[in-house]
Amino acid sequence: MDSIIVTGNGPLNGDIPIAGAKNACLALMPATLLSEEPLTLTNAPRLSDIKTMTALLESLGAEVTKMQDGKVIAMASHGEISPVADYDIVRKMRASNLVLGPLLARMGHAVVSLPGGCAIGARPMDLHVDALTAMGAEIELKEGYLHAKTNGGLKGAVHELRFASVGATENVLMAATLAKGTTVLKNAAREPEIVDLADCLRKMGAQIEGDGTSTIEIQGVDRLHGATHPVVTDRIELGTYMLAPAFCGGEVTCLGGRIDLIGAFCEKLDAAGIEVTECARGLTVKRRGDRIKAVDIVTEPFPGFPTDLQAQMMALLCLADGTSVLEEKIFENRFMHAPELVRMGANIDVQGGVATVHGVEKMKGAPVMATDLRASVSLILAGLAAEGETIVNRVYHLDRGYERVEEKLGNVGAKIERITGQ
Ligand code: UD1
Repeated sequence: MDSIIVTGNGPLNGDIPIAGAKNACLALMPATLLSEEPLTLTNAPRLSDIKTMTALLESLGAEVTKMQDGKVIAMASHGEISPVADYDIVRKMRASNLVLGPLLARMGHAVVSLPGGCAIGARPMDLHVDALTAMGAEIELKEGYLHAKTNGGLKGAVHELRFASVGATENVLMAATLAKGTTVLKNAAREPEIVDLADCLRKMGAQIEGDGTSTIEIQGVDRLHGATHPVVTDRIELGTYMLAPAFCGGEVTCLGGRIDLIGAFCEKLDAAGIEVTECARGLTVKRRGDRIKAVDIVTEPFPGFPTDLQAQMMALLCLADGTSVLEEKIFENRFMHAPELVRMGANIDVQGGVATVHGVEKMKGAPVMATDLRASVSLILAGLAAEGETIVNRVYHLDRGYERVEEKLGNVGAKIERITGQ
């Protein structure tokens, strides 16, 4: 298994290109199942999660071709499609559940394995099931698989999600494009990845209004056609690299970055003493003083502070002047990076979903273990500013969501290398 070694050093300066969003791409890829005509995605990220979705779509009978070193993904689902998403692939990645809505819409039935437990919480699928049931699906859990069928296809419905789940919103959005009649989804998620999916579906001929707000209306159509769509910028990769100069000084421009993707995060950076300037090329970030100020964070659905940036922000606040309180409201078990940061000299007290971080002046390099995707990158960021060498083990989590991290940080002056394991 690969490890990454980071040696804390001086300021970082230069440009970091931001890739297309993993979470958008994972929702866009299953949309190919909605049409017999080709769907091509450009600006796709090169990540292991995308390989997993590719394998899943291929196992269902879709053709997936990667071009330009993986940045372009051409898909076609004109052949026979299998309705069964197997446990062996689904267990690797929860986003595999995004084939449920498209399969039901196209075939009227689907058998999709439940994703199973995940390091950051239980992550059930009840919200997906309730919404699709409201649209006329009958769904039963048998031997770990959701068996879903419809009587003559899905029907439009008015449904309110109990929680604005990103995945449930995406499944309903895709399913409703081919349902009979109009679907109104209330308390829908408003994340930029939802808007990106709706944009792509509209290019394919879907009739959707209200995406980006909490009520989305979808008028079902008889068929969707092919399209080409660029994947939106990854706001989580963007936020992660924006933090690099906050840790160790310097000035970094994140190419392709936009404040509207990440407004709540930028407000907290400002309060912590970090300056963000929007320019034509992206977002330029630098620290105002030598020391970061403490700030309190509560994670919330978009447009609130994203849970996927909580670990990285906690790593930064470990070095702040004062005490910060971070409250995790989306996932019940998402502080697994805290004990690793403590091994590097941080002072963090976790009580349930609340972490109190007492800032220290310096952290020290240590061997640490990455426990999930965002936790792994938070340890790399901490290593950038720590004294000595930080060895981040088990970086396969990192490769799920960050392409070429050592190259991107190395190019702006970080001392970082990957050690390839067995
Ligand atoms: C997506 C993102 C993930 C991000 C999360 C929250 C992708 C591929 N992943 O995950 O990176 O951290 O949004 O912004 O886009 N829940 C239920 N029942 C359900 C569905 C969800 O209780 O049927 C709960 C989950 O356990 C969790 C919360 O709702 O506590 C948020 O989940 P959701 O918004 O669905 O996240 P994902 O779509 O899985």
